[in-house]
Amino acid sequence: MATAFPDVADPGLYRGDSWRPHFERLRREDPVHYHPESPYGPYWSVSRYADIMAVELDHATFSSASELGGIQIADPPKGQELPNFIRMDPPRHTAQRKTVAPIQAPSNLANMEALIRQRTAAVLDGLPRGEVFDWVDRVSTELTAMMLATLFDFPQDERRKLTHWSDVAIANIAAADAVVKSEAERMAELRQMAEIMAALWKERAAQPPTFDLISMMAHGEATRAMPLNEFIGNFALLIVGGNDTTRNSMTGGLIAAQENPGEIAKVRADKSLLPSLVSETIRWQTPVIHMRRTATRDVELSGKAVKKGDKVVMWYVSGNRDEAVIDDAEAFRVGRPRARHHLSFGAGIHRCVGDRLAELQLKILWEEMLARDLRVEIVGHPVRLYSNFIRGIRALPVRIS
Ligand code: HEM
Repeated sequence: MATAFPDVADPGLYRGDSWRPHFERLRREDPVHYHPESPYGPYWSVSRYADIMAVELDHATFSSASELGGIQIADPPKGQELPNFIRMDPPRHTAQRKTVAPIQAPSNLANMEALIRQRTAAVLDGLPRGEVFDWVDRVSTELTAMMLATLFDFPQDERRKLTHWSDVAIANIAAADAVVKSEAERMAELRQMAEIMAALWKERAAQPPTFDLISMMAHGEATRAMPLNEFIGNFALLIVGGNDTTRNSMTGGLIAAQENPGEIAKVRADKSLLPSLVSETIRWQTPVIHMRRTATRDVELSGKAVKKGDKVVMWYVSGNRDEAVIDDAEAFRVGRPRARHHLSFGAGIHRCVGDRLAELQLKILWEEMLARDLRVEIVGHPVRLYSNFIRGIRALPVRIS
C-alpha cells in the first residue's frame, strides 16, 4: 500500500527547508489531494501550476472572504477576524484595491527610483568589510523598512516599528522564537499600531490628498470610514505585503547567488539580464508559501469532487517548481523564457498590487551590488521562519571581503 502523504502544512517543513520531495510526490501522484486531517482541519492541497491558476482565476467559486475563513490555511480565531481587501470578494475588494493601486503607477515608480537608489547605495556603502554581520538585519530589513516608511509617509526614524508589526502580524504563536506568544498579545500589539496610524490618518484626512498609502485610504470613498477591525486588517495587509515578501527575496537572492555563481557572472557580463535575475529570484524564493480559498459551491477540480465549504490551499512553492510548465524548475536559471510567468505574486483579481514596486527594489539592489562588485560570502546557515505562510529567512551571517 502506498504510504500516506505527509501534511505539507507542517511549518517545520519550511523551517527545515525540507518541503521539496513531498510536493514532488504530490504533483506526480495526486496533484489535487485531500488531506482528511491536519491541525487546521481537512483541506485540499493544490500543487500543480495549472490547477493553482484554475483556482486563482475562478474567484466566484473559490472565495477569499474573511467570513468563510480568509486566505490562510489556519482560520482566524473566532471573533478576532481582521477583514481587509485581500480577504474580500468583489465588489468590496475591487473598490478598496482600486484606492491603493496607484501606489505603483508608473509615474510614482519613476519618482521613487532615485530615492530607492540613493538609500540602497548608502546602505551598501555603510556595510562592514572583513567582518561577519547579518545580511537580513543590515540590508534586507533595513531597505524594506525604509521603503515602507516612504509608502506610508511614516517617520523614517521609527521605521523598525513597521518591521516589528509585520513580524507580529504573521507570527506563528506556536514557534519557540515567535515575537508574540498568544492571540491576545498579537491583538494588543496591532491595536497599538492602529492608534499610531490613526493619528497620522487624522492629519492626512485634514490635508489635500497626497501619494502615500495613509492619505490614499483616508480620502478614498471605499476606505475612509472603516470599522476598527478592518482598519487594523488593511494596515496589517499593507505592512506585511510590502515588507516580509521583498525582504525575503533580497535574502533569498543572495543565497541563490552564492549557490549559482555562474548565473550572476552572466548578469555581470550582460546587464540586460537584470529583470530576468529579479524574476528568477522571486520565483526561486517564493516568499508566500500558500494562499487559501473556500469553495462556494460543489465543483470538480482536476477530476476531484470539491464540496461547498471545503478549504482549498494553493501551494505556490510547489506550482513554481512544476516541471510541466517550468523546465528544470529546481534550478536557478537567469535568462529563462517567460521568466515573469511564476506564481509568487499570485494571479487573477488578487494578484499582488506591489509587484512592480518589489521588482524595482530588487533590481536596484542588484544593480548597486554589481556596480560595486560587492562579493558577499555567506559564512553560516540561514535561520528560517517557522511558518507555512511566509517563506522567511530571519538571519543570514555574511562577510564582505
Ligand atoms: C517579492 C515581493 C512580493 C511578493 C512575492 C508578493 C506576493 C503576493 C501574493 C502571493 C499575493 C496574493 C495573490 C493572490 O491571492 O493571487 C499578494 C497580494 C498583495 N500584495 Fe504582494 N507581494 C510582494 C510585494 C508587495 C509589496 C511591495 C506590496 C506593497 C506595496 C504588496 C502588497 C500586496 C497587497 C496589498 C496585496 C493584496 C492584493 C489584493 O487582494 O487585491 N506586495 N502579494
